[in-house]
Amino acid sequence: MRQSSLVVVANRLPLDDNAAPDGACEWRRSPGGLAGALRAILEQTPATWVGWAGGVGPARQLSDIGGLRLRPVSLSEDDLRGYYEGFANSTLWPLYHDAVQQPVFDRNWWETYRTVNRRFAEAASEVAEPGAVVWVQDYHLQLVPQMLRDLRPDLLIGFFMHVPFPPPELYMQLPRRVELLRGMLGADLVGFQREQAAHNVAQLAQKLLGARATDDAIEVDGRTVRTGAFPVSIDVAEMRALAGRPDVLSQARQLRQDLGQPKRVLLSVDRLDYTKGIEHRLTAYSELLRDGHVKVRDTVMVQVAVPSRERVESYSDLRDRIEGEVGRINGEFGRVGEPAIHYLNQPFARSQLAALYRAADVMVVTPLRDGMNLVAKEFVAARGDDAGALVLSEFAGAAAELPQAFLVNPHDLDGLKETLLRAMCADPADLSGRMAAMREHLAGHDILSWARAYLTALDHTGSLAERLAGERTKASSVPWHR
Ligand code: ADP
Ligand code: F6P
Repeated sequence: MRQSSLVVVANRLPLDDNAAPDGACEWRRSPGGLAGALRAILEQTPATWVGWAGGVGPARQLSDIGGLRLRPVSLSEDDLRGYYEGFANSTLWPLYHDAVQQPVFDRNWWETYRTVNRRFAEAASEVAEPGAVVWVQDYHLQLVPQMLRDLRPDLLIGFFMHVPFPPPELYMQLPRRVELLRGMLGADLVGFQREQAAHNVAQLAQKLLGARATDDAIEVDGRTVRTGAFPVSIDVAEMRALAGRPDVLSQARQLRQDLGQPKRVLLSVDRLDYTKGIEHRLTAYSELLRDGHVKVRDTVMVQVAVPSRERVESYSDLRDRIEGEVGRINGEFGRVGEPAIHYLNQPFARSQLAALYRAADVMVVTPLRDGMNLVAKEFVAARGDDAGALVLSEFAGAAAELPQAFLVNPHDLDGLKETLLRAMCADPADLSGRMAAMREHLAGHDILSWARAYLTALDHTGSLAERLAGERTKASSVPWHR
């Protein structure tokens, strides 16, 4: 068994075992922000990534991606239902996102969640060399830090929560709240997207564990667990370079032409998830059309919504509702050859996403709650021309870093409509000032600086963070779908 000095443990591997139309296996980049963010820094680093490769049944052997080894963890059909679709995505996900959807508390899921967490902890323990750093990711694996500490007390263990961590009054609803809190606090450093989350955990540790706790340290079982905010980011250089490529710029021009050369293009790009506020956005847009503030002849909305967690009922119901609403809006306001909304359900290559970002006048990112929202950051990174407006929900982690966006409360429909109109009609000089400020912030806060900040805080010697920085300067020869 080959071992590594850095091990990342995440629910998904950075590639997804996706069935091709002919039934063959087709690897593609995993959906969502976490895999994309971590892939950007790890593909050139000697490390092992422990995770699920999609699908059910025994895991196949996977070849390395550059310096990155992949250690697949298999999931059975029952595991998938109890652990991933059940406890992770029907209990924790809605609860942690302000319960914008009612969380389901099903007692049968807990045992599976615990068993699968143990499987991940054992896999990590096998591939970690003595004294290694193991970095566990997200709500799927909240029990892993303590399990790993029990198996391997020699390891330095980090945990990062990519989604929001809820206020105590919501967290207290969780039937297994003590075990989950203890599990996470098995880490040496627990990182969150925002400071408020660290504050929430400190309050819960006092209340549920009787621990001494501040917003940056919690005393538990005779150990000090450090906590803090480390807002995740994107590969800014990659997106900037893609969006400046001549072929991508000509693709962006072509897109506007295909859309009928409208005066304004509004764009949204989301996983099809009820936290993303897609329905609120559609209602606001449809009311703007109805009130005559927006005309289909000169304004076009493009909604990219890639299907997600489709076997979970709340997700398939959401998809039905959204598709019904898009159909209604197009039926009512569209004209022959001119739909009011272009609705696209497909995954796009990075270069196609970059072209979409460059083709847009207004990027509409209005989640009801979001840990960070990397799409907002990708849009900013893509706008090297300092044009375009970003309408951004106050409830996305990204809002704390991008105050120059048109910030909005997506629950307030009138406010949302008014903000969309303001962004559509903004003066180009105003837009350029806002975009330049946001781009400047991102330039100093990219994915590498996130990983370095976290790993330096975890490993005081700083050697790991240094190594990441060094590896990053080498040219990439990694065969990724771009
Ligand atoms: P989440 O992690 O909840 O999915 P984020 O906005 O943080 O939300 O991250 C979403 C990531 O998925 C972004 O990197 C975005 O570019 C990518 N993405 C979203 N939609 C698509 C799509 N249709 N095709 C390819 N990538 C997509
Ligand atoms: O951080 C949110 C998250 O659960 C990530 O782990 C993942 O990147 C994304 O959402 C996509 O979700 P899933 O892995 O369930 O498709």
